Amino acid sequence: MTSTKNYDVKDPSLAEAGRQRIEWAFREMPVVKLIKERFGKEKPLKGVRISACLHVTTETANLALALKEGGANVVLCASNPLSTQDDVATALVEYGVPTNAIKGEDEKTYYKHINTALDNNPQLTVDDGADLVTTLHSKRSDLISNVIGGSEETTTGVIRLRSMEKAGKLKYPLIAVNDAQTKYLFDNRYGTGQSTIDGITRATNILWAGKKVVVCGYGWCGHGIALRAKGLGAQVIVTEVEPVRALEAVMDGYRVMPLLEAAKLGDIFITIAGDKNVIDKAHLQLMKDGAILANSGHFNVEINIPALESMARSKRRIRPFVDEYTLDSNRHLYLLGEGRLINLAAAEGHPASVMDMSFANQALCMEYMVKNRGKLEPRVYPVPEEIDKQVARLKLSSMGIDIDSLTQEQEKYLTSWEEGT
Ligand SMILES: NC(=O)c1ccc[n+]([C@@H]2O[C@H](COP(=O)([O-])OP(=O)(O)OC[C@H]3O[C@@H](n4cnc5c(N)ncnc54)[C@H](O)[C@@H]3O)[C@@H](O)[C@H]2O)c1
Repeated sequence: MTSTKNYDVKDPSLAEAGRQRIEWAFREMPVVKLIKERFGKEKPLKGVRISACLHVTTETANLALALKEGGANVVLCASNPLSTQDDVATALVEYGVPTNAIKGEDEKTYYKHINTALDNNPQLTVDDGADLVTTLHSKRSDLISNVIGGSEETTTGVIRLRSMEKAGKLKYPLIAVNDAQTKYLFDNRYGTGQSTIDGITRATNILWAGKKVVVCGYGWCGHGIALRAKGLGAQVIVTEVEPVRALEAVMDGYRVMPLLEAAKLGDIFITIAGDKNVIDKAHLQLMKDGAILANSGHFNVEINIPALESMARSKRRIRPFVDEYTLDSNRHLYLLGEGRLINLAAAEGHPASVMDMSFANQALCMEYMVKNRGKLEPRVYPVPEEIDKQVARLKLSSMGIDIDSLTQEQEKYLTSWEEGT
């Protein structure tokens, strides 16, 4: 293990494999490529220090390299103890992006790595889940006066930032990248949909056809997971707490019921609610022998793992990322990836093509923050509409797809009230 002041990765010999995988992902990231080329010429982030806390994947590597190309000094750390791709982390160090991330790191190392990233004395922060921002606000607040702004990648992180804003605790402006249409409609839905199924498949090699799959939470990620599980022939049951979303799931063709009922039926349970103890002891007590439990929500709190541990007579790792819990009744439950987001723990996270849009938003928001230095209040801002639209236009163009535009007559009609029946 290499350990120096501003980077910490697992194994230096992995660099070549990491470089090749980063290059492979870049082929599917045409929008980030265009931004990187422009950044290379214009250097909009010249000399700007960025501390980034993201899943250390091939796609994140390409974002970090684009920011570096724009002139930024980027230090990276992991946003989850189990999501790091060690070869990518090593390659990034070689590319001049000090990276602090080791797959399977314990919580102490995880926060040590966040602190090393913060030692970069950031002017901008990029976060996924808000652990870096909350550490900065609570333990490293001496650094905040230098911060221009930041961005947040995921739903759970945005919820935490909004709660900080409401409590008057937020000290600098942040952009909720998650809430851009070119982020959540694609990354959360198609990215999480495909990669969650991929993670569970890689961990277990199960056949989905004919399985009863219970999706807990029908937000954008839940939409994607349910859709892809259905496409593979599973019978999908959705559980929800929001009536509109539950109704939507019904009309999308899924069975909807309380989890206490679904618990008795499911072969595979997937939590994707961004909430705590969604699967609780009472549900675990009802599950069938052999049921599989996976989480794809941001934190490992969605399945009550302490309850599962307390119910278990014994536990063994039967395959990588599969823990078998034998309960008193001689029932077995299988927890995947220690309850951490399974698409990143057991697979590679979202495909590059979808991260292309999320990270194009991130790169453009970093540029926006620098351009608007000192002009924004310490609040959570939406991604500016022109950035969202620009990302969609560039993505369509990279796919060779043209669309129509409004005629003058239509523009007038769509902004007037005079014409009716
Ligand atoms: N694995 C990944 O790569 C990845 C990618 C994007 C987002 N996420 C994370 O996934 C989670 C969900 O994100 P989203 O964008 O779909 O959020 P969302 O807010 O759109 O959806 C969450 C849904 O869960 C429902 N819910 C909350 N508590 C529930 C409960 N106890 N039982 C049933 N349903 C419940 C909510 O009503 C809501 O409809 C978040 O933690 C987010 O950060 C993970």
